[in-house]
Amino acid sequence: MIVLGIETSCDETAAAVCQDKKIISSQISTQTIHRKYGGVVPEIASREHEKLLNDMVSDTLEVGGISKNQLKGIAVTQGPGLAGALITGVCFAKGLALGLGLPIIGINHLEAHIFVNFLADPTLNFPFICLLVSGGHTQLWYVKDLNHYTLMGETRDDAVGEAFDKGARILGLGYPGGPEIEKLAEDGNTNAIKFPRAFMGKNNMEFSFSGLKTALLYYMDNQKNVNLNDVAASYQSAIIEVLTTKLLWAMDKTNCDQCVIAGGVAANKSLRNSVETNLYSKKVIFPEMAHCTDNAAMIAFLGELYLSKKSSSPIDFPILPNLKLT
Ligand code: KG4
Ligand code: ZN
Repeated sequence: MIVLGIETSCDETAAAVCQDKKIISSQISTQTIHRKYGGVVPEIASREHEKLLNDMVSDTLEVGGISKNQLKGIAVTQGPGLAGALITGVCFAKGLALGLGLPIIGINHLEAHIFVNFLADPTLNFPFICLLVSGGHTQLWYVKDLNHYTLMGETRDDAVGEAFDKGARILGLGYPGGPEIEKLAEDGNTNAIKFPRAFMGKNNMEFSFSGLKTALLYYMDNQKNVNLNDVAASYQSAIIEVLTTKLLWAMDKTNCDQCVIAGGVAANKSLRNSVETNLYSKKVIFPEMAHCTDNAAMIAFLGELYLSKKSSSPIDFPILPNLKLT
């Protein structure tokens, strides 16, 4: 089955084609215009999607050697995300589906982040634990089957991606902050500064990163001679230690021996090393780098999965900016 996927939930405009569980074409345009504002400006994001989508979809089909009449369905991100940004993608997808007489399915962006791990390792099977770490979410899920998800813990305040982005801003670095902090941390000492780790009572699977951010702010305000590499390394290490420890607890609690990492922060190499080292006896799956941050390959892949089970959305389905996983 050949399915076109479209993703416009935030500042990435993306299109991809999935055929029989394989991505045959995928394009992403990251909107760099937001960098000068230090974060995503919703109205600008919507306008950029509007400008880019038509050509991007045509190019994606052309590169994949697919004509529109070979498509069997269209998948598009329904939520969560920025309302205006979601509307541009959903309206475009609906127009295409109506024009071509194709079924359409609205996709949960979080579920797509999780399921893209089946692309990384097709031998993955249920059940497994998912550590979902993105710009808006930090959650631990017990994934029993398609559509059977149990939340084991989540952040009480900032998401981990937000902790990277806000931390980067405090350090005077660019947006998005994750890759910036990661780069700076490469030459730093992870033990130079003792930053706080929240909720570390045994088996507590809740997260909190706002205290860490405040500790960084105080440190930067109070220190005269700051080694930015050490600060970045210590800050990143505080985040990674918490994520790795709680992932391990979640696996022990459920007796699960396989886990996946999902969302933009899964691109962080120190997180990858830490999880692989500490969970050496378990099966650990990370998405390939291009599928960590927002992309349409994950939307097309999950869309094909649902459409092949004859599951689709009515043509008047709404956008859901606050969509949850369960
Ligand atoms: O999944 P994503 O692309 O968008 C959301 O759905 O939120 O995640 C974006 C987040 C940003 O906060 C960004 O700073 C973070 O992922 N991120 C990283 C890295 N690459 C992206 N965080 C740490 N290390 C990275 N290499
Ligand atoms: Zn995302």
